Amino acid sequence: MSNERMNNVIILHLLLLFVLTIVSQASHAHYSLGKEKVTHFHFFFRERPSGDHPTTVLVAKPKDTIMNASNPLPFGAVYVLDVPLTEGLDPNSKVVGQAQGLAVSVGQDKLMVAFMVDCGFTSGEFNGSSISAFSRNPILETNHREIAIVGGRGKFRMARGFAELHTVTATANVVVVEYNVTIFHYE
Ligand SMILES: *[C@@H]1O[C@H](CO)[C@@H](O)[C@H](O)[C@H]1NC(C)=O
Ligand SMILES: *[C@@H]1O[C@H](CO)[C@@H](O)[C@H](O)[C@H]1NC(C)=O
Ligand SMILES: *[C@@H]1O[C@H](CO)[C@@H](O)[C@H](O)[C@H]1NC(C)=O
Repeated sequence: MSNERMNNVIILHLLLLFVLTIVSQASHAHYSLGKEKVTHFHFFFRERPSGDHPTTVLVAKPKDTIMNASNPLPFGAVYVLDVPLTEGLDPNSKVVGQAQGLAVSVGQDKLMVAFMVDCGFTSGEFNGSSISAFSRNPILETNHREIAIVGGRGKFRMARGFAELHTVTATANVVVVEYNVTIFHYE
């Protein structure tokens, strides 16, 4: 065997050893979860789509699409949002978190929003924890609609569940949505 060949064989063996080491470590890694429990909680999402300091801004829309008051969410429009979550319905109610993420208009024939939002809590039992919504959000179903909660952080690590939504107010200046969250998570 030439020296060069020999070197290649050695390198190949070392690589194989390296990969096997990683694979065996990965298979030994484990993470144990506590006991599963169900938590229900409630808050209000208080959005200001217009004004001096809007909570929701348009970042992209299809070329040539006309937007106006009667067509504020044309197919393809992408919004970024940072919306306060309050304890109660009152505008001066305590802020308990922020919903931050994206809302995209995804319905060709009927208005539909795809909602990808992390709701992070800043007070109370869940301070520092968050839940992640990744769901269709059929905003025309104002009385009752449901969105999927696909995970979370902190106390909601590995969580899953759903939120039942009810639009309390919807004007050009303010949209208030009640969220009733049911979430399965671990102690
Ligand atoms: C809004 O734009 C649509 C076209 O996208 C048009 O048909 C409609 O008349 C406009 N409405 C107003 C109030 O300007
Ligand atoms: C929430 O947690 C942060 C970071 O740990 C802390 O600074 C803050 O005081 C807490 N807020 C409340 C209302 O408990
Ligand atoms: C949320 O829960 C409250 C209290 O349990 C109830 O009155 C309300 O109808 C619920 N709303 C939705 C949208 O589920």
